[in-house]
Amino acid sequence: MFLGTQRVNNQGHLEIGGCDTLALAQQFGTPLYVMDEAFLRENIRRYRAAFAQKYPGESHISYAGKAFLVKRVAQIVAEEGIDLDVASGGELFVALSAGFPAERILFHGNYKSDREIQEGVAAGVGRFVVDNPHELSRLAQVAQGAGIVQKILLRVTPGIDPHTHAKISTGQEDSKFGVSIQSGEALAAVKLALASPSLKFLGIHCHIGSQLLDAQTHLDAGDVMVGFLAQIQRETGFSCEELDIGGGLGVRYLPEHAPLSFEDFAEALTGALLAAFERHGVTALPRLLQEPGRSLVAEAGTTLYTVGPLKTVQLAEKTKTYAVVDGGLSDNPRPALYGAKYSALVAGRASQPKDKSYTVSGKHCETDLLFPDMPLGEVTSGDILAVQTTGAYNQTMASNYNRFPRPAVVFVRDGEVSLAVQRESYEDLVRQEF
Ligand code: LLP
Repeated sequence: MFLGTQRVNNQGHLEIGGCDTLALAQQFGTPLYVMDEAFLRENIRRYRAAFAQKYPGESHISYAGKAFLVKRVAQIVAEEGIDLDVASGGELFVALSAGFPAERILFHGNYKSDREIQEGVAAGVGRFVVDNPHELSRLAQVAQGAGIVQKILLRVTPGIDPHTHAKISTGQEDSKFGVSIQSGEALAAVKLALASPSLKFLGIHCHIGSQLLDAQTHLDAGDVMVGFLAQIQRETGFSCEELDIGGGLGVRYLPEHAPLSFEDFAEALTGALLAAFERHGVTALPRLLQEPGRSLVAEAGTTLYTVGPLKTVQLAEKTKTYAVVDGGLSDNPRPALYGAKYSALVAGRASQPKDKSYTVSGKHCETDLLFPDMPLGEVTSGDILAVQTTGAYNQTMASNYNRFPRPAVVFVRDGEVSLAVQRESYEDLVRQEF
């Protein structure tokens, strides 16, 4: 499986963005996060174009920064002209530090502290996605104090179970996120919002889950959301201007993963929404908002590790070989958290047959099996292992466990490499300590 600009160069090495990954490992050390900039930009353009073509109304994409937000990513997102979704004061700060225009930011989170609410209002963020009645009244007060009218969306739970990993399911009735449509709380919150002079209620938001490989859950949620738009119209006379369906489209971690293409997803979702508008009698087409994170950035990321010790264990049923890499849980907690699987290749012999499997583990002081039973072909100590599809929820979820400095991030494009995040130093590890 080769993704984006990945290819094998004439030395048999894996190349990304026209850069030899062995040379990158040599220059910047490992573990190293390598981002394929052209691929990221292309994903943004294709996602946006797909909906611009299919959806007859206005459509907007906000990149979900939680997937991977460093200043460089915020700058690329700004340049590509899409919006940005932040989920904390910290993400907001990163975005603003990168010069991201505040009016193009959506501020998320199920518990925005008073400080975060104040920071968002002071920065002039375009929209707050209000999670609950508590936040609604806090935000109304802060906006009133600041003498502004804050635009908001209301996060609702459509009561859909997305059948993805439980920890990344968010749209079902039993969820900490959003207000329930079924129980009537959502309608009550809409009425409150409409009655608040310091808030401008624009519409409703949901996010149902992540790494969804087909469109069915989105279609089901879309139907419930459109039904709720119609109910709001009937009961309050207000036509929502915006409908935000969240993110969630899946990506290829393994060759057998076949997520819907952006184009097919746009076709399926638009078709279903238009049918639902008609069925529920919604005549004013709302602006369609979406917040993809993973599907824009995951496949554009590759992590390079150096293989150290190899250890063979003779078991009753088979012989197993551990290949230990110089990272692990601290730079990619997803296997441990979600049982996530990945594909990898030996960067120096990128086209060798993957006829031998290894248990790739990290160097933390516990059994951090990164990738059990990973087909790689021949592996020797000193090889560079390139783990694919690590662009989302890896660097953002990295830790300093065992006091490992977090890896550097480089962006590669057209044969040029550019350092976006420096590797942490040992000094960084004690910088905040007294
Ligand atoms: N919008 C909201 C409100 C969200 O909560 C999320 C993700 C997104 C958009 C973007 O979803 P995406 O397109 O990336 O699926 N750490 C987990 C993923 C958690 C996702 C949380 N919310 C993982 O590593 O799989």
